[in-house]
Amino acid sequence: MAKIPEHILNEIQDRCDIVEVISSYIPLNPAGRNFKALCPFHHEKTPSFIVSPDKQIYHCFGCNSGGNVFNFVKEHEKIDFIDAVKMLAEKTGVKLPEYRQEKSEDSSLVSTIYTINDIAAGFYGGLLAKSAASTDVRRYIEKRGIEDAVLEKFRIGYADSSWRSLADYLTQRGVKREMTLKAGLVLKGKDNSVYDLLRGRLVFPIFDARGRVLGFGARVLDDSLPKYINSPETIVYKKARHLYGLNFAKQHIREKGFAIISEGYLDVIMSHQYGIINTISSLGTALTVEQIRLLRRYTHNVVMVYDADQAGEMAALRGLDLFLEEGMNVKIACLEKGHDPDSFIRKFGPRGFDVIIKKAKNLFEYKLGVLKEKFNTDEPEAKAEIVKEMLGTINRVRNAVIKAEFIKNLSAALSIKEEAVWEELKKLGNNKSFRRGGQAGLQEVKRTVSISPAEKILVKLMLEDASVVNTVRESLKPFDFKNPDIRHLIEALFSFDTKGTIIDARRLINYLEDKVSPHVISFIVNDEVMIRDKEKNIRDCINVIKKENKDRQLRDIQSRLSLAQKNGYKDEAKSLLGEFNRLIKTGS
Ligand code: CTP
Ligand code: MN
Repeated sequence: MAKIPEHILNEIQDRCDIVEVISSYIPLNPAGRNFKALCPFHHEKTPSFIVSPDKQIYHCFGCNSGGNVFNFVKEHEKIDFIDAVKMLAEKTGVKLPEYRQEKSEDSSLVSTIYTINDIAAGFYGGLLAKSAASTDVRRYIEKRGIEDAVLEKFRIGYADSSWRSLADYLTQRGVKREMTLKAGLVLKGKDNSVYDLLRGRLVFPIFDARGRVLGFGARVLDDSLPKYINSPETIVYKKARHLYGLNFAKQHIREKGFAIISEGYLDVIMSHQYGIINTISSLGTALTVEQIRLLRRYTHNVVMVYDADQAGEMAALRGLDLFLEEGMNVKIACLEKGHDPDSFIRKFGPRGFDVIIKKAKNLFEYKLGVLKEKFNTDEPEAKAEIVKEMLGTINRVRNAVIKAEFIKNLSAALSIKEEAVWEELKKLGNNKSFRRGGQAGLQEVKRTVSISPAEKILVKLMLEDASVVNTVRESLKPFDFKNPDIRHLIEALFSFDTKGTIIDARRLINYLEDKVSPHVISFIVNDEVMIRDKEKNIRDCINVIKKENKDRQLRDIQSRLSLAQKNGYKDEAKSLLGEFNRLIKTGS
């Protein structure tokens, strides 16, 4: 989707007053220079929701929701950012010309590409249907045990080994060369010639949730490399946004109340062949937030069944964190070493697979198991490492009760005091933590903003007076700041050419849309801080941040050092020690 140009966002913001907009939703009461209200996003008895007419920013100090006028409309109406912009554009009479134009131009191209993909799927399917019994592709399909009905259902096809089968076919069908190239299935060779992307492969069309063909993946028929060739990203195919098999599985995912997510095409295909029809796959990519949000339309419960190898384990651990972050209930099923769902189902049947799914472990059991195999749990340093790793994941659990239960179990499993684990958790702080519940209808989201006072004050001063940015730039680097949102914010501030102007926070929020949560900016902007001696305050903050940063680095080196020493990695220990001493002496 096209991004709305910033100047348009600014124009809309210039034409509407945040106080007016918010007061059309909730009653606002004047309080000094600001307005106050009972927060519409969480339940409270005394108002902690502040709207600043000067800054055109709102922030609730109870649940930490905040931002500019777009963020408010988006949250209150529960709509996308784009739709919030559209609503306010209409209200203020600002046209969104570029956006509309681009969209209509795109839409005819989009439908052409869908058509080409569909023709190509038909073509490859036809080649497979026509292939004789003892050809390579037929033998391969037999070997993999894929049944005819399933070949048809998934529209599996065959790309023969000649160079221009598809290209010629599309030309015959009257498809313009320019379009053929845009669909990504045909490539430009030398002297204006073209050739097919997929040759000598079993072809899997990739569908969107509505069943339209987005692109293709294609597997070799032997062990040669690359094993798969996938069609490139096109205007219709964005790999990170789709889940293979979702078009077939979505109904069953709803009915069964959970989804099974695997890694590959054939894992999905075999599951479906054997009647396990709530299975999808992430197409071998590292799972993305977009994929999770897509899945979340159908269920909040997911079981991951990744390949039982090193890569699968890594991918599972990563996926686990992402699912939790998106508020999903996730479990992990473990296959016997060396298996993937496809091979497992063929060996142990759907019943065997069902057992595995039922035995799926929660994040706690799974991750602790993996870590316990890696570390010797008798050693305190190893315990500390396990706690750190586990907390990184547990911290993403949104439900406070479940979180507390995991922490209790973790301390018991490692025989350490529960308070110690809580203390470590507190140090992590940065992660958003959420609390849900309250009265019916209102889904409360409580965010925490964890910023050290020095970072907060310094950023506040920079936002109020851009000349402070220059002072800070001379002494600190973005990386010296601990909070990741702040780091991005600082990077942006440093990149501006600032000469004593005031930085407009409401615009900054749009500018940093993908990088910095709006509530972090609104928190800093609306927070009241008493400043007596500004120059001294700035110097103090810079020094504190330097010191905090140095301490953090020293602690980090120390813990790596003691691990290296325990494990007898002499060289590494030596270089860490050197690093440690250097840092103590020079401070950089
Ligand atoms: N994949 C890919 N490109 C590759 C390798 C893998 O796109 N070079 C994607 C495919 O979607 C594949 C998935 O990652 O289905 C899982 O990879 P892998 O486990 O290697 O493949 P399988 O599909 O399980 O293939 P097979 O069982 O035939 O070896
Ligand atoms: Mn496989």
